[in-house]
Amino acid sequence: MTENTSSTIVIFGASGDLTSRKLVPALYNLHRTGELPAHTRIVGFSRTPMSDEAWRHSLRETTANHTDDFDEPSWITFANNIFYQPGDIQKRSDFDSLQHKLDTIEQKRLATRVYYLATAPQFYWPVASNLGSLGMNDESHGPRRIVVEKPFGTDLSSAQILNSKLHSVFDESQIYRIDHYLGKESVQNILALRFANTIFEPVWNRRYIDHVQITVAEKVSVGRRGDYYDKSGVLRDMFQNHLLQLLMVTAMEAPVLFNAEAVRNEKVKVLDAIRPLDNDRVQAASVRGQYDGYRKEPGVSPASQTPTFGAIRLEIDSWRWQGVPFYLRSGKAMSCRTTQIVIAFREPPLKLFGGSESITREANRLVIQIQPAEGIQLHFHTKVPGEGMRLRLTDLEFSYSREFSGRLPEAYEPLLLDVMTGDASLFARSDEVEKSWEIIDPFVNVWESLELPPIPEYESGFWGPPVSAEWMEAQGRTWFDQCPVLT
Ligand code: BG6
Repeated sequence: MTENTSSTIVIFGASGDLTSRKLVPALYNLHRTGELPAHTRIVGFSRTPMSDEAWRHSLRETTANHTDDFDEPSWITFANNIFYQPGDIQKRSDFDSLQHKLDTIEQKRLATRVYYLATAPQFYWPVASNLGSLGMNDESHGPRRIVVEKPFGTDLSSAQILNSKLHSVFDESQIYRIDHYLGKESVQNILALRFANTIFEPVWNRRYIDHVQITVAEKVSVGRRGDYYDKSGVLRDMFQNHLLQLLMVTAMEAPVLFNAEAVRNEKVKVLDAIRPLDNDRVQAASVRGQYDGYRKEPGVSPASQTPTFGAIRLEIDSWRWQGVPFYLRSGKAMSCRTTQIVIAFREPPLKLFGGSESITREANRLVIQIQPAEGIQLHFHTKVPGEGMRLRLTDLEFSYSREFSGRLPEAYEPLLLDVMTGDASLFARSDEVEKSWEIIDPFVNVWESLELPPIPEYESGFWGPPVSAEWMEAQGRTWFDQCPVLT
């Protein structure tokens, strides 16, 4: 089937937050900047009875609030291609009406169709199965793709069940499991940094790197999401998806080609090489915590043991990474919002400038900052002028905003374009998702076991519970606890 220029994006869960805060603003931005393929229509589907016009009207408000450069004329041309179909995800007859609406809009011509599951996870399968039962997965009138949001399952077995159900309707090549972290410019830039340059490759291994720290710190607390979060916790919410994705792009080998299969094969090999841990080792290789006040959040059980902070150590048994621990850490209600990957290099073999206070723990570092500002900092020692051989850690810096003028696209923008054009490189494959759960499940199981002492609390606005720093110290290392190095 040749790719065609007409596309229809059908959003299930049209009245939800994700649609109004992320998806429609992203599509609008693409339209405004001229990147949205011509003849792209958006069709919303959810239970609220509403006309096309009423949905356009409500999206106008939310989009204006969630985009920086809203302008009325471009909104009007964009909104002309927005439609709405009320219906219940669980009712097959409502999918008949949807099919009818799509046929009318597409005038039965060839069109790429993207079905976007922006619903609660329990509705993923009802939507897919209804689409299947009406033949809406059939590609004789153009490509049919389905986008599945996170969480993809809650553990390995639920992810396997969901995969096998989806595979009964859609071929793997039609399924796009989205992780918005892979749409962030600076995450994709890790691939450029590593594989478009030659100078980093020779040092990107166990000979030069002591360990790697991947931190996703959030300042926000769980807020109104307590009901969901209390059942999920930080491991399911952040580690199984975003943090492991960051680990994969940092640790993977260069693919032979830059295409979806080659990239995903290399990512999966990283997961394959992660050393499985038994219960005792899981305990020694992890720290959990809960911010003070969490149990008073709406929707949270007053006796909750759900972790809002976690740090885990993973070992990758490969030639490149043997003996280099990867520390992954994430939490809510922390000091600041920062996502960063710290490549901590080994200390020099000889401390030639012995007396210097800075040499011991402060070896070279490459800090890749993903957000809030994007860029890279290389930390290295320099001689302080005129003071003998006194050294100081200084840095070389690359900042996206200084280097490139203009707006950085929101993560959903490139990902939505990729789905429309059929590029799955930045989406998770079924085996990738299952292997991620295989790695995270033992941590969840041990953390949820009743034998563990009560979860340590931490004061909001700090870097997690004190035990996290002690745990690192005990391994002869320190967390790079700095709020964004780039602003
Ligand atoms: C989501 C999690 O997937 O990612 C949230 O469910 C989290 O709990 C969010 O806040 C973080 O995304 P970002 O892009 O703001 O770092």
